[in-house]
Amino acid sequence: MKLIPLLILFEISLIMASDTDWRRKILVTNKETPEEGLKILREKCDLIFPESVPATRDEILKLIPGVDGILWVGHYALNGEVLDLGMPTLKSISTMSAGMDYVDIAEFKRRNFPLGYTPSVLSDAVADEAIGLMIAAGRRFHEGRLKIENSEWAGGPQWMLGQDIKAKTIGIIGLGQIGQTIAKRLKGFDVRRILYSGRKPKPEGDKLGAKFVPQTELLKGSDYVFLSVPLNNSTRHMINATTLREMKRTAVLINVARGEIVDQEALVAALKDGTIFAAGLDVMTPEPLPADSELLKLPNSVIVSHLGSATRRTRDDMAVLAALNVLAGIDGSPMFAPYPY
Ligand code: DGY
Repeated sequence: MKLIPLLILFEISLIMASDTDWRRKILVTNKETPEEGLKILREKCDLIFPESVPATRDEILKLIPGVDGILWVGHYALNGEVLDLGMPTLKSISTMSAGMDYVDIAEFKRRNFPLGYTPSVLSDAVADEAIGLMIAAGRRFHEGRLKIENSEWAGGPQWMLGQDIKAKTIGIIGLGQIGQTIAKRLKGFDVRRILYSGRKPKPEGDKLGAKFVPQTELLKGSDYVFLSVPLNNSTRHMINATTLREMKRTAVLINVARGEIVDQEALVAALKDGTIFAAGLDVMTPEPLPADSELLKLPNSVIVSHLGSATRRTRDDMAVLAALNVLAGIDGSPMFAPYPY
């Protein structure tokens, strides 16, 4: 999704808007939403925000009656209750995320309610982070720091050896836009081959020179396994004690999707007993992860606090796209990024 064409379309829609257009009321559920998106909304709408940051879901719900649209920022459940509270004025909602696991999609579909989201614009940032996690986990960055903190620096030619990337096999579970961007990044690392699994082979896979294989073959053959699938009933706990045992003992698991795709207890056990080499995780269960979580105590897990899309430019782009979605939905026009339910 390129933002420049989107903005041109938005300018055209502003020019076409008649003087008789009424000012809509939009609820933005987090007042720290980037100004780039808010200023688009302010052109035509009055904005309301919950007072606190982050607001509780109850605070947000109280503000829904009477609004025309909602920019839903954050991962609170977005379901029929929200839609009921918004009736009869509410016409459009966009999230500011690519993952939609917290949305009751079936309910939106049943009501044929305009729902937007923000895929594509975050693929680069998330893929960058995935590559960072791959290197950090494979090369034992966290453990190295712990050695220093604990005065255990031994040094020497056999000390703290990690995994190579060059000539290795990469497995990507879920070759969507983020998975494809990860694959593009990896081309520069001279990997041996890229495997991917999912529901079916994709033409983009051929373009990237990636091979579609069953998940078991991917797990058995890959040195690095990236998770970039949406969370749903068929992906929840797809990485579990059984599938972890299918992986190489030298394998590194990278999760930039959702924590629940991994059975975390099984992962902790696998990291402890050497079933796999290391994990790099941007996502976990629950979020926030309790400070005393066992996952944080493992030297071979690199944990980041769900920051995949957290760059200034990416968050600006997400806010712009979400704002354009909300406005389009209110006008009864096709959204710029409608959720394909
Ligand atoms: C997404 O967009 O789904 C990211 O995880 C950030 O919420």
